[in-house]
Amino acid sequence: MASGRPFPLNAWYPAAWGHEIERALAARTICGHDIVLYRRADGAVAALEDACWHRLLPLSMGRLVGDQVVCGYHGLVFNSAGRCTHMPAQKTINPSACVRSYPVVERHRLIWVWPGDPALADPAAMPDFHWNDGETWKGEGGTFYSLKCDYRLVVDNLMDLTHETYVHAGSIGDDAILDTPFEVTHTDRAATMTRWMIDIDPPPFWARQLGRPGHVDRWQIVTFEAPAVVVGDVGVALTGSGAPEGDRSQGVNGAFLAALAPETETSCHYFWNFVRTFRTDDEQLTRDLQRAHVNDGKGVYDQDHVVLEAQQRAIDRNPRSPFYNLNIDAGALWARRLIDAMLAREQRSAGAPQAAE
Ligand code: FES
Ligand SMILES: [Fe+2]
Repeated sequence: MASGRPFPLNAWYPAAWGHEIERALAARTICGHDIVLYRRADGAVAALEDACWHRLLPLSMGRLVGDQVVCGYHGLVFNSAGRCTHMPAQKTINPSACVRSYPVVERHRLIWVWPGDPALADPAAMPDFHWNDGETWKGEGGTFYSLKCDYRLVVDNLMDLTHETYVHAGSIGDDAILDTPFEVTHTDRAATMTRWMIDIDPPPFWARQLGRPGHVDRWQIVTFEAPAVVVGDVGVALTGSGAPEGDRSQGVNGAFLAALAPETETSCHYFWNFVRTFRTDDEQLTRDLQRAHVNDGKGVYDQDHVVLEAQQRAIDRNPRSPFYNLNIDAGALWARRLIDAMLAREQRSAGAPQAAE
């Protein structure tokens, strides 16, 4: 790792679903930065440092009046750019009275913030997460807020789906995953793990979605985009119908979506969705698929959740124990390399803020 901090700051991170941010104050910690979010009257989202300039009370404990935040302690008022516009019992406002305002963009149904140098915040650098737009691909997901693990453990988990056989036996797990080789490719921003399982019995989850008997070709094409987005193109199609060659018409195609935001070095927010291109008007199926992932401890992601937090607890107890790498870790290793490259670039670039360290 190129720095003591495991996450770059000069990046867009998801802070909330768009529907969660209304005309009210919402607190989030992103990369160690305490941020208060709210929606302005014009519909744009503001993101301010969640600490009053005066005595550091979290502004999220105050109230929103118009587009301004009134501190809940002594009533200082800050506008959506973070500038103080009112001080109690004095006419002149100290010109240095302001809180930091963070670049924020609403895209792909999520609110993204940039905790690093605002001058470098380029909306064009936003990770591609269009599967979440709700147009071609349909689904409803959720969030694990404050999942108690380093966000990179989630990346590891999603980039190596051999864990399905053990963690998700009975739903998407399948011994074929273990027997089938995969390949990993990468660019300077992304790493992709591709596995095709040809002529297999579909695992129970996919057999139900396909609704037809017979052997299938199953694919898992999982792409990580640095620093914290993973998209898994997954599905099955009847064997011999040409899916590996590009014709998926005799199959069912889904995508698992993960946009992660480090909260601290050992906790993260995990925005997830599972979207699909089959039976897109079937609201009941949307709800069923959502429950298949998170359902009071019984969903697929609930199972991952237990493993990830237990893994972090073990790491905390044994901080010097190394990780050993197997062939199955190739995708995760590339992901971590790309994160490390971002960290190294950030360290080299003059004036990169280090506030969260
Ligand atoms: S702490 Fe906010 S006004 Fe005093
Ligand atoms: Fe999993």
